[in-house]
Amino acid sequence: MTQQQHQTADITQAVLDRLADDADPRFRQIITGVVRHAHALIRELDLEPDEWMAAIQFLTRVGQTCDAKRQEFILLSDTLGISMLVVQLDQARRSKAALADKTAKARPTEATVQGPFYWEGAPVLPLGSDIGKGMPGEPAYYSGRITDTHGKPIANCCLDVWSGDGEGVYDMQMDGDVGMRLRGRFHTDSEGGYRFWSIKPFYYPVPADGPVGDMLRAMGRHPNRPGHIHMMVYRDGYVPVTTHLFAADSPYLDSDAVFGVRDSLIVPYERHDKGTKAPDGRAMDRPWHAAKYDFVLAPA
Ligand code: BEZ
Ligand code: FE
Repeated sequence: MTQQQHQTADITQAVLDRLADDADPRFRQIITGVVRHAHALIRELDLEPDEWMAAIQFLTRVGQTCDAKRQEFILLSDTLGISMLVVQLDQARRSKAALADKTAKARPTEATVQGPFYWEGAPVLPLGSDIGKGMPGEPAYYSGRITDTHGKPIANCCLDVWSGDGEGVYDMQMDGDVGMRLRGRFHTDSEGGYRFWSIKPFYYPVPADGPVGDMLRAMGRHPNRPGHIHMMVYRDGYVPVTTHLFAADSPYLDSDAVFGVRDSLIVPYERHDKGTKAPDGRAMDRPWHAAKYDFVLAPA
Protein backbone atom coordinates (compact mmCIF):
# COMPACT_ATOMS: atom_id res chain seq x y z
CA MET A 1 0.00 0.00 0.00
CA THR A 2 1.20 3.52 -0.76
CA GLN A 3 1.31 6.08 2.04
CA GLN A 4 -1.74 7.82 0.50
CA GLN A 5 -3.74 4.56 0.44
CA HIS A 6 -2.81 3.97 4.11
CA GLN A 7 -4.08 7.40 5.06
CA THR A 8 -7.43 7.01 3.26
CA ALA A 9 -7.94 3.48 4.66
CA ASP A 10 -7.36 4.97 8.13
CA ILE A 11 -10.22 7.41 7.62
CA THR A 12 -12.66 4.58 6.88
CA GLN A 13 -11.54 2.67 9.97
CA ALA A 14 -11.60 5.85 12.08
CA VAL A 15 -15.27 6.44 11.21
CA LEU A 16 -16.17 2.81 11.97
CA ASP A 17 -14.26 2.95 15.28
CA ARG A 18 -16.55 5.77 16.47
CA LEU A 19 -19.60 3.53 16.23
CA ALA A 20 -20.92 2.73 19.71
CA ASP A 21 -20.77 -0.97 20.69
CA ASP A 22 -24.29 -0.76 22.08
CA ALA A 23 -25.84 0.84 18.96
CA ASP A 24 -28.78 -1.14 17.55
CA PRO A 25 -27.20 -4.21 15.84
CA ARG A 26 -29.04 -3.83 12.52
CA PHE A 27 -28.26 -0.09 12.47
CA ARG A 28 -24.57 -0.94 13.12
CA GLN A 29 -24.62 -3.37 10.20
CA ILE A 30 -26.29 -0.87 7.84
CA ILE A 31 -24.20 2.19 8.73
CA THR A 32 -21.00 0.11 8.56
CA GLY A 33 -21.98 -0.99 5.05
CA VAL A 34 -22.81 2.57 4.03
CA VAL A 35 -19.45 3.92 5.26
CA ARG A 36 -17.41 1.05 3.73
CA HIS A 37 -19.15 1.13 0.34
CA ALA A 38 -19.29 4.96 0.10
CA HIS A 39 -15.58 5.27 0.92
CA ALA A 40 -14.73 2.45 -1.51
CA LEU A 41 -16.74 4.14 -4.28
CA ILE A 42 -15.05 7.48 -3.74
CA ARG A 43 -11.64 5.77 -3.85
CA GLU A 44 -12.60 3.77 -6.95
CA LEU A 45 -13.73 6.94 -8.78
CA ASP A 46 -10.93 9.08 -7.32
CA LEU A 47 -13.74 11.60 -6.85
CA GLU A 48 -12.82 15.26 -7.14
CA PRO A 49 -14.14 17.95 -4.73
CA ASP A 50 -16.28 19.70 -7.37
CA GLU A 51 -17.80 16.35 -8.37
CA TRP A 52 -18.70 15.64 -4.75
CA MET A 53 -20.20 19.14 -4.46
CA ALA A 54 -22.27 18.51 -7.63
CA ALA A 55 -23.60 15.32 -6.02
CA ILE A 56 -24.53 17.23 -2.86
CA GLN A 57 -26.27 19.92 -4.91
CA PHE A 58 -28.16 17.25 -6.86
CA LEU A 59 -29.39 15.57 -3.66
CA THR A 60 -30.33 18.97 -2.24
CA ARG A 61 -32.47 19.63 -5.31
CA VAL A 62 -34.04 16.18 -4.98
CA GLY A 63 -35.08 17.09 -1.42
CA GLN A 64 -36.32 20.53 -2.43
CA THR A 65 -38.50 19.00 -5.15
CA CYS A 66 -40.43 16.92 -2.60
CA ASP A 67 -43.79 18.18 -1.35
CA ALA A 68 -47.10 16.70 -0.16
CA LYS A 69 -47.84 15.35 -3.66
CA ARG A 70 -44.37 14.58 -4.97
CA GLN A 71 -41.60 12.34 -3.58
CA GLU A 72 -38.50 12.87 -5.70
CA PHE A 73 -36.32 10.59 -3.51
CA ILE A 74 -38.63 7.63 -4.24
CA LEU A 75 -38.48 8.52 -7.92
CA LEU A 76 -34.68 8.54 -7.69
CA SER A 77 -34.76 5.12 -6.00
CA ASP A 78 -37.22 3.84 -8.65
CA THR A 79 -35.27 5.07 -11.66
CA LEU A 80 -31.98 3.68 -10.32
CA GLY A 81 -33.58 0.23 -9.92
CA ILE A 82 -33.18 0.35 -6.14
CA SER A 83 -36.92 0.15 -5.34
CA MET A 84 -37.30 -2.90 -7.57
CA LEU A 85 -34.26 -4.58 -6.01
CA VAL A 86 -35.72 -4.07 -2.52
CA VAL A 87 -39.11 -5.43 -3.73
CA GLN A 88 -37.47 -8.56 -5.18
CA LEU A 89 -35.42 -9.27 -2.06
CA ASP A 90 -38.48 -8.73 0.14
CA GLN A 91 -40.63 -11.12 -1.89
CA ALA A 92 -37.89 -13.79 -1.92
CA ARG A 93 -37.52 -13.45 1.87
CA ARG A 94 -41.25 -13.54 2.66
CA SER A 95 -42.13 -16.32 0.23
CA LYS A 96 -39.07 -18.49 0.93
CA ALA A 97 -41.08 -21.52 2.10
CA ALA A 98 -43.49 -21.38 -0.86
CA LEU A 99 -40.63 -20.95 -3.34
CA ALA A 100 -38.85 -24.01 -1.89
CA ASP A 101 -42.05 -26.15 -1.73
CA LYS A 102 -41.52 -29.01 -4.22
CA THR A 103 -45.22 -29.96 -4.07
CA ALA A 104 -46.41 -26.44 -5.05
CA LYS A 105 -48.34 -26.18 -8.33
CA ALA A 106 -47.64 -22.50 -8.95
CA ARG A 107 -45.19 -19.81 -7.93
CA PRO A 108 -46.49 -16.73 -6.12
CA THR A 109 -47.37 -13.85 -8.45
CA GLU A 110 -44.29 -11.69 -8.92
CA ALA A 111 -44.25 -8.39 -7.06
CA THR A 112 -43.28 -5.07 -8.59
CA VAL A 113 -42.93 -1.45 -7.48
CA GLN A 114 -45.86 0.22 -5.72
CA GLY A 115 -45.18 3.62 -7.27
CA PRO A 116 -46.28 6.96 -5.82
CA PHE A 117 -49.97 6.87 -6.77
CA TYR A 118 -51.42 4.36 -4.29
CA TRP A 119 -54.27 5.91 -2.30
CA GLU A 120 -55.46 3.96 0.71
CA GLY A 121 -59.21 3.52 1.18
CA ALA A 122 -60.48 3.02 -2.39
CA PRO A 123 -64.23 2.24 -2.45
CA VAL A 124 -65.21 -1.38 -1.78
CA LEU A 125 -67.27 -2.39 -4.82
CA PRO A 126 -69.30 -5.41 -5.91
CA LEU A 127 -67.66 -7.77 -8.41
CA GLY A 128 -68.38 -6.69 -11.97
CA SER A 129 -68.41 -2.93 -11.15
CA ASP A 130 -66.99 -0.43 -13.63
CA ILE A 131 -64.29 1.86 -12.22
CA GLY A 132 -63.50 3.29 -15.66
CA LYS A 133 -66.94 4.67 -16.49
CA GLY A 134 -66.71 8.07 -18.21
CA MET A 135 -62.88 8.03 -18.14
CA PRO A 136 -60.70 8.62 -21.20
CA GLY A 137 -59.63 5.28 -22.67
CA GLU A 138 -61.07 2.08 -24.09
CA PRO A 139 -63.02 -0.15 -21.67
CA ALA A 140 -61.36 -3.35 -20.48
CA TYR A 141 -62.95 -6.28 -18.66
CA TYR A 142 -60.57 -7.84 -16.12
CA SER A 143 -61.21 -11.31 -14.76
CA GLY A 144 -59.48 -14.33 -13.27
CA ARG A 145 -58.98 -16.29 -10.07
CA ILE A 146 -56.88 -15.92 -6.98
CA THR A 147 -55.48 -19.17 -5.58
CA ASP A 148 -52.75 -20.31 -3.22
CA THR A 149 -49.59 -22.01 -4.48
CA HIS A 150 -51.40 -25.39 -4.38
CA GLY A 151 -54.22 -24.17 -6.59
CA LYS A 152 -56.76 -23.79 -3.78
CA PRO A 153 -59.12 -20.84 -4.43
CA ILE A 154 -58.85 -17.96 -1.97
CA ALA A 155 -62.35 -16.64 -1.29
CA ASN A 156 -62.93 -13.12 0.05
CA CYS A 157 -59.44 -12.05 -1.05
CA CYS A 158 -59.08 -8.32 -1.59
CA LEU A 159 -57.92 -6.99 -4.94
CA ASP A 160 -57.15 -3.29 -4.51
CA VAL A 161 -56.86 -1.79 -8.01
CA TRP A 162 -55.63 1.57 -9.28
CA SER A 163 -54.38 3.02 -12.57
CA GLY A 164 -54.02 6.14 -14.65
CA ASP A 165 -56.67 6.81 -17.28
CA GLY A 166 -56.50 5.89 -20.95
CA GLU A 167 -54.14 8.85 -21.45
CA GLY A 168 -51.85 7.76 -18.61
CA VAL A 169 -52.99 10.40 -16.08
CA TYR A 170 -53.64 9.51 -12.41
CA ASP A 171 -56.27 11.30 -10.29
CA MET A 172 -53.49 12.41 -7.90
CA GLN A 173 -51.70 14.23 -10.73
CA MET A 174 -54.69 16.35 -11.71
CA ASP A 175 -55.06 19.98 -10.70
CA GLY A 176 -57.56 20.64 -7.94
CA ASP A 177 -59.27 18.03 -5.81
CA VAL A 178 -60.82 15.60 -8.31
CA GLY A 179 -61.18 12.82 -5.71
CA MET A 180 -60.57 9.13 -6.46
CA ARG A 181 -60.81 7.97 -10.06
CA LEU A 182 -60.11 4.51 -11.49
CA ARG A 183 -59.75 2.93 -8.06
CA GLY A 184 -61.66 0.17 -6.33
CA ARG A 185 -61.42 -2.74 -3.92
CA PHE A 186 -62.99 -6.04 -4.98
CA HIS A 187 -63.39 -9.25 -2.98
CA THR A 188 -63.23 -12.66 -4.62
CA ASP A 189 -66.24 -14.99 -4.69
CA SER A 190 -66.27 -18.50 -3.14
CA GLU A 191 -64.31 -19.87 -6.15
CA GLY A 192 -61.61 -17.20 -5.79
CA GLY A 193 -62.99 -15.44 -8.88
CA TYR A 194 -62.85 -11.70 -9.57
CA ARG A 195 -64.12 -9.48 -12.38
CA PHE A 196 -64.43 -5.75 -12.94
CA TRP A 197 -64.37 -3.14 -15.67
CA SER A 198 -61.76 -0.42 -16.01
CA ILE A 199 -59.85 0.96 -18.99
CA LYS A 200 -56.95 -0.38 -21.03
CA PRO A 201 -53.93 1.43 -19.57
CA PHE A 202 -51.69 3.63 -21.67
CA TYR A 203 -47.95 4.27 -21.32
CA TYR A 204 -46.92 7.47 -19.54
CA PRO A 205 -43.79 9.26 -18.34
CA VAL A 206 -42.67 9.43 -14.70
CA PRO A 207 -42.31 13.10 -13.62
CA ALA A 208 -39.29 14.34 -15.58
CA ASP A 209 -39.37 18.08 -14.87
CA GLY A 210 -37.14 17.84 -11.76
CA PRO A 211 -33.60 16.67 -10.89
CA VAL A 212 -34.42 13.01 -11.59
CA GLY A 213 -35.53 14.03 -15.11
CA ASP A 214 -32.17 15.83 -15.53
CA MET A 215 -30.39 12.67 -14.42
CA LEU A 216 -32.35 10.54 -16.92
CA ARG A 217 -31.49 12.96 -19.75
CA ALA A 218 -27.81 12.95 -18.73
CA MET A 219 -27.94 9.13 -18.84
CA GLY A 220 -29.59 9.21 -22.28
CA ARG A 221 -32.74 7.54 -20.95
CA HIS A 222 -36.45 8.13 -21.64
CA PRO A 223 -38.86 8.55 -18.67
CA ASN A 224 -41.68 6.24 -19.87
CA ARG A 225 -43.43 3.34 -18.20
CA PRO A 226 -45.33 0.81 -20.32
CA GLY A 227 -49.14 0.74 -19.90
CA HIS A 228 -50.03 -1.01 -16.66
CA ILE A 229 -52.71 -1.34 -14.00
CA HIS A 230 -51.71 -1.63 -10.34
CA MET A 231 -53.03 -4.28 -7.96
CA MET A 232 -52.49 -5.02 -4.30
CA VAL A 233 -53.73 -8.53 -3.45
CA TYR A 234 -54.18 -9.52 0.17
CA ARG A 235 -56.00 -11.72 2.64
CA ASP A 236 -55.10 -12.73 6.20
CA GLY A 237 -53.00 -15.89 6.24
CA TYR A 238 -51.23 -15.14 2.93
CA VAL A 239 -48.19 -13.10 1.91
CA PRO A 240 -49.69 -9.99 0.25
CA VAL A 241 -48.41 -8.97 -3.16
CA THR A 242 -48.22 -5.51 -4.74
CA THR A 243 -47.93 -5.84 -8.46
CA HIS A 244 -49.07 -4.64 -11.93
CA LEU A 245 -50.46 -6.16 -15.08
CA PHE A 246 -48.71 -4.81 -18.18
CA ALA A 247 -50.47 -4.56 -21.57
CA ALA A 248 -48.65 -6.93 -23.94
CA ASP A 249 -48.86 -4.52 -26.90
CA SER A 250 -47.58 -1.47 -25.01
CA PRO A 251 -44.40 0.35 -26.01
CA TYR A 252 -41.55 0.47 -23.49
CA LEU A 253 -42.04 -3.07 -22.10
CA ASP A 254 -38.31 -3.64 -22.56
CA SER A 255 -37.20 -0.28 -21.18
CA ASP A 256 -39.53 0.60 -18.27
CA ALA A 257 -38.10 3.72 -16.59
CA VAL A 258 -38.39 2.02 -13.17
CA PHE A 259 -37.39 -1.56 -14.15
CA GLY A 260 -40.73 -2.97 -12.94
CA VAL A 261 -41.63 -5.29 -15.86
CA ARG A 262 -41.60 -9.06 -15.29
CA ASP A 263 -42.48 -11.42 -18.15
CA SER A 264 -45.01 -13.18 -15.92
CA LEU A 265 -46.97 -9.91 -15.54
CA ILE A 266 -47.39 -9.17 -19.27
CA VAL A 267 -51.00 -9.80 -20.30
CA PRO A 268 -52.63 -9.83 -23.74
CA TYR A 269 -55.60 -7.48 -24.01
CA GLU A 270 -57.98 -9.24 -26.39
CA ARG A 271 -59.68 -6.59 -28.53
CA HIS A 272 -63.38 -6.90 -29.39
CA ASP A 273 -65.36 -4.81 -31.86
CA LYS A 274 -68.10 -2.38 -31.06
CA GLY A 275 -71.44 -4.20 -30.98
CA THR A 276 -70.10 -7.46 -29.52
CA LYS A 277 -71.39 -8.82 -26.22
CA ALA A 278 -69.15 -8.65 -23.15
CA PRO A 279 -68.77 -11.64 -20.75
CA ASP A 280 -71.28 -10.05 -18.35
CA GLY A 281 -73.89 -9.81 -21.12
CA ARG A 282 -73.43 -6.08 -21.76
CA ALA A 283 -73.91 -5.03 -25.39
CA MET A 284 -70.91 -2.80 -26.01
CA ASP A 285 -71.35 0.41 -27.99
CA ARG A 286 -67.60 0.87 -28.53
CA PRO A 287 -64.55 -1.39 -28.91
CA TRP A 288 -63.48 -3.08 -25.69
CA HIS A 289 -60.75 -5.39 -24.39
CA ALA A 290 -60.62 -8.48 -22.19
CA ALA A 291 -57.64 -9.13 -19.90
CA LYS A 292 -57.47 -12.42 -17.98
CA TYR A 293 -55.03 -13.05 -15.17
CA ASP A 294 -54.83 -15.53 -12.28
CA PHE A 295 -53.05 -14.37 -9.13
CA VAL A 296 -51.23 -16.73 -6.76
CA LEU A 297 -50.50 -15.96 -3.11
CA ALA A 298 -48.03 -17.79 -0.87
CA PRO A 299 -49.25 -18.95 2.54
CA ALA A 300 -47.92 -16.62 5.28
C1 BEZ B 1 -46.25 4.34 -11.39
O1 BEZ B 1 -46.38 3.19 -11.69
O2 BEZ B 1 -47.25 4.97 -11.41
C2 BEZ B 1 -44.91 4.90 -11.05
C3 BEZ B 1 -43.96 4.07 -10.49
C4 BEZ B 1 -42.73 4.58 -10.16
C5 BEZ B 1 -42.45 5.92 -10.37
C6 BEZ B 1 -43.41 6.76 -10.93
C7 BEZ B 1 -44.64 6.24 -11.29
FE1 FE C 1 -48.46 3.41 -12.44
